Amino acid sequence: MTFGNRATRRQFISKGLAVSGALAFGLPSATFAAEAQINQSGGPSPGPAAAMGITGLGSLKAHAGAKGLLFGTAVEAHLLSSNAEVAQIVIDQCSILVAENSMKMGPMRPTPTTYSFEAGDALVAFGDAHGIKVRGHNLNWHAQLPTWFNATATKDNARQLLVDHITTVAGHFKGKLHSWDVVNEAVNTPDGRPDGLRNGPWLKLLGPEFIPLAFRTARAADPDVLLTYNDYGIETDSDGDVKKRAAILELVRGMKKDKVPIDAVGIQSHIHVGWSPADSKGLREWMGTLRGMGLKVFVTEMDINDDTWKTDDPAEIDAAVAQTYHDYMEVLVNEPALAAVLTWGVTDAHTWLAGRRPGPRPPGAIFRPGQASGQAAGQAEVLPPGPPPGQTTQQHRPPERPLLFDANNKPKAAFFAVRDAFDTRTA
Ligand code: XIL
Repeated sequence: MTFGNRATRRQFISKGLAVSGALAFGLPSATFAAEAQINQSGGPSPGPAAAMGITGLGSLKAHAGAKGLLFGTAVEAHLLSSNAEVAQIVIDQCSILVAENSMKMGPMRPTPTTYSFEAGDALVAFGDAHGIKVRGHNLNWHAQLPTWFNATATKDNARQLLVDHITTVAGHFKGKLHSWDVVNEAVNTPDGRPDGLRNGPWLKLLGPEFIPLAFRTARAADPDVLLTYNDYGIETDSDGDVKKRAAILELVRGMKKDKVPIDAVGIQSHIHVGWSPADSKGLREWMGTLRGMGLKVFVTEMDINDDTWKTDDPAEIDAAVAQTYHDYMEVLVNEPALAAVLTWGVTDAHTWLAGRRPGPRPPGAIFRPGQASGQAAGQAEVLPPGPPPGQTTQQHRPPERPLLFDANNKPKAAFFAVRDAFDTRTA
């Protein structure tokens, strides 16, 4: 059931298919035998997942942990309390969690004077109960702002608004989180500024200073949490991604020079099926540069969009997605600065990519990159990035299959692909 580390792409795809097949037909395997022995030695009685050799020593968190990595996922507390199977997957597989939406400013601030901590608190309580760390996402972003933001925020009060928000929210969770995405997606080179910063609401209100201000305020509120800058569109060697990586590097260099506290950079990793290591030589180098600056790197939101795949055959899509996961992870885990890997969702039943197609662009939607919707910030819907240059999104396709578990909570070939990739880490 394990794939050789040096499997070629083609080999992996055929093995991926074999794995999906083996799982579908419940075939035994070497991993299964090993797991059965572990369970005979007195552990809790094995459930269906244990019977597949994917829990305990076979889990993603165990394989990641053996190489000094955390593995986890984005999830909401309400899903954990309402869906026992998803909760069990999270307990079995994750050493770190992040709230998909509930700790963003919009959900967190129903009114200018009130805070809604319940969902974040519940996630932290779940983490405590099961020994799982929790990341905070996020303290500052141009999107998912509160509905009252546009009418309330002015150049005069924006500084206080930002400082109050971060002081209160990071203060509330002080000592309870592994890391915070302090600033999310502040770089967008197509906006044409020499520093590459996004011409978003916070920049318009406060100028580039909002970034150091956010990090300093976060450090003051929680001295021990790891402070992260998080962004997307930096995963390949396309012109746009290369420019964006360079701009982020400049931003981080400036922060280091000015002694602004920053501990890590998050690579969101919403990538498209078919990514290949040849597409990302510059990414490894860039991660190495961040390491040289004393920073850790996290993969914060990984999923693999299959809307550019040439057929609708689920087995073929699963194999190609698995291949892409394996290749991408193998490159990244072999960079010593990498410390954590999180997928953006647990199963294909709950993915932000679901229900996004087919059909026309919804009114007010912001497709990324690009952003040119003319909608007021905070009210527009954030949609996944469009397909890579030169490729078109196919229409009238079945639902996306971007995660490691399928919509019936069964591990896919992608699960084993990621697990095998963790094993290749020598860094
Ligand atoms: C997404 C959520 O998954 C969706 O449920 C929500 O509608 C929009 O935001 N980059 C980020 C995440 O930093 O916060 C986004 O999450 C996905 C893209």
